[in-house]
Amino acid sequence: MLHDLGLDAFGLDLSPAMVDHARRAHPALRFDEARMEALPIEDCALGGVLAHYSVIHTPPGELPALLAEQVRVLAPGGLLLVSFFATDGSEPVRFDHKVTPAYSWPVDRFAELLAGAGLVTFARLLHDPASSQPSGLAVTAASGALRYCVGEMPVIRLNAVPNAVSDE
Ligand SMILES: C[S@@+](CC[C@H](N)C(=O)[O-])C[C@H]1O[C@@H](n2cnc3c(N)ncnc32)[C@H](O)[C@@H]1O
Repeated sequence: MLHDLGLDAFGLDLSPAMVDHARRAHPALRFDEARMEALPIEDCALGGVLAHYSVIHTPPGELPALLAEQVRVLAPGGLLLVSFFATDGSEPVRFDHKVTPAYSWPVDRFAELLAGAGLVTFARLLHDPASSQPSGLAVTAASGALRYCVGEMPVIRLNAVPNAVSDE
């Protein structure tokens, strides 16, 4: 969809099978093997990062470094859209997932991690739980990067939040 809008979009995944699948499904787009822990991308190079259920397998202790890596590649004012499974309580919960274990997160705890990475969460989109999901809600938190890149000033566009996206 981003490509159809004329944007330069590409995809990364550590799994060769997932990269093959993506290439076959979207032959016009670029997909490469890479780990989120070490993105093959220069500092401040991207206007946005979409991590669609990509971080759910990351052990909680490793998530701050992974988010910091995503922030590193965002341009000032860049956006991170991150989707994950939500849970009640105060701690992340490990659960069995199809391929490898995953973690659901208390939404506010995840927001704290985003803040620790220099991001401001300005919207949360809560989905109704599907019966196959192990926790009550899935959440998308969209965050604007609050950071300086050398020689540039930050642009924070909080007023760009669509009305359709609610606070909770
Ligand atoms: C639950 S799947 C989601 C796939 C896709 N984003 C979607 O929404 O359909 C999680 C994906 O994240 C990838 N992944 C997990 N940890 C990763 C890491 N550290 N670096 C790169 N990719 C990773 C897995 O290979 C897998 O393809």
